[in-house]
Amino acid sequence: MSSSFAVTVQPAARMSGRVRPPGDKSISHRYAMLAAIADGPSVIYGYSTGGDCASTLGCLRGLGVPIDQISRDPRTGIHLEILGLQVGGLHRPSATLDAGNSGSTIRMLSGILAAHPFRTTMTGDASLRKRPMRRIIVPLERMGARFISDDGRPPLTVMGTDDLKGIDFQPDVASAQVKSAVLFAGLHADGMTRVVEPMCTRDHTERALEAFGAQVGRAGTSVAIRGGQRLIGGTFHIPGDISAAAFWIVAAAALPGSDVTIEHVGLNPTRTGILDVVRRMGADVKTITEHAQAGEPIGIIRVRHTDLQAATIAPEEVPGVIDELPVLAALATHGGELSVTGAQELRVKESDRISALADGLRSMGGEIDEQADGFHVRGRSRLRGGDVDAKNDHRLAMAFAIAALGATGPTVIHDAGSAGVSYPEFFTVLESLRA
Ligand code: S3P
Repeated sequence: MSSSFAVTVQPAARMSGRVRPPGDKSISHRYAMLAAIADGPSVIYGYSTGGDCASTLGCLRGLGVPIDQISRDPRTGIHLEILGLQVGGLHRPSATLDAGNSGSTIRMLSGILAAHPFRTTMTGDASLRKRPMRRIIVPLERMGARFISDDGRPPLTVMGTDDLKGIDFQPDVASAQVKSAVLFAGLHADGMTRVVEPMCTRDHTERALEAFGAQVGRAGTSVAIRGGQRLIGGTFHIPGDISAAAFWIVAAAALPGSDVTIEHVGLNPTRTGILDVVRRMGADVKTITEHAQAGEPIGIIRVRHTDLQAATIAPEEVPGVIDELPVLAALATHGGELSVTGAQELRVKESDRISALADGLRSMGGEIDEQADGFHVRGRSRLRGGDVDAKNDHRLAMAFAIAALGATGPTVIHDAGSAGVSYPEFFTVLESLRA
């Protein structure tokens, strides 16, 4: 999707209504990849409508996986049928695969391709070509694969082998993508593969592997998988993405008189850190877990505004809110105050999210100090609005829109179309929630 268009966001008095977020992006990638290497067909409902998850499907098709898109609905998502080729059964691609803007696609798929005895080259857009890949290259080479990269960045060529060895691996960075790449390789390897993380990260891979019938050993921040297991295809329903819901959670917390209910949203405890932070900043947040699908809890979140307060986010909390930090910074512009440390990973996301966030909020009249590993936002006076550059980063485009709701004048968000990477319906839903 083209991201070059601009959107003007007018200030809002309050937000109210009910919303169902798009299918969880993290879970969508994982179900598509595991369905591709499972035995037999899988049916997936609620697959993310975002561009990143379309990139995963494009790459899997390039690896010979039969995928049928049965329907696409802006509210309930995409209904897919994927015919699995079994563990180790992907086909040699005839062309370079395009992962678009998606770090999850290139990193997690590398773990699977490491176990296939052919060469695959993956590349992506200008943002993806700047992102660090050594974090997956190092463990996957220890397992027996070989890589060619541009000084640790894409284009990335994976030279896989059907003779991978299990390893014990302790990544330096707390990254669910790295953990997942190594576990996916471990599924195909000889013996046990164990990943011990420095801090707990989202555990959708562990839950998804179990839902496809694999056994995964878990203890604290350690996850282990025995190679040689088969996966079984099935029917899967993807919960709504709490990282997309985060924009409405924050909008409701920010604007006096707001009351927003989010339905059919994933409530996996490794993803609900945002609720703890907005509660500490003063919002009234209620959740109800209604049921679970494939080990993923799903329910309702209701958020009402109360006066905003100052809060801090400590380093150990960062992996649980990594994607929500831009919109939490936007929340602080509405009258609170937020200090974040230990978030240096933000500098290697779809943009350098610390400097792009600071530039953007400042250009709207915000007060933000930038540090090497975080930021401090003070919401002492209202933003004035103005022109802001999302730097082709979906989460920044949407975070600036939520900050803009509290400004005294309109805000023009350049590169606003980048929201389509995770939430193509975002600007339409934003207008529908204005009360
Ligand atoms: C993701 C993990 C996080 C997150 C990204 C999605 C995932 O990245 O920022 O948007 O689906 O595993 P890292 O694992 O690199 O921290």
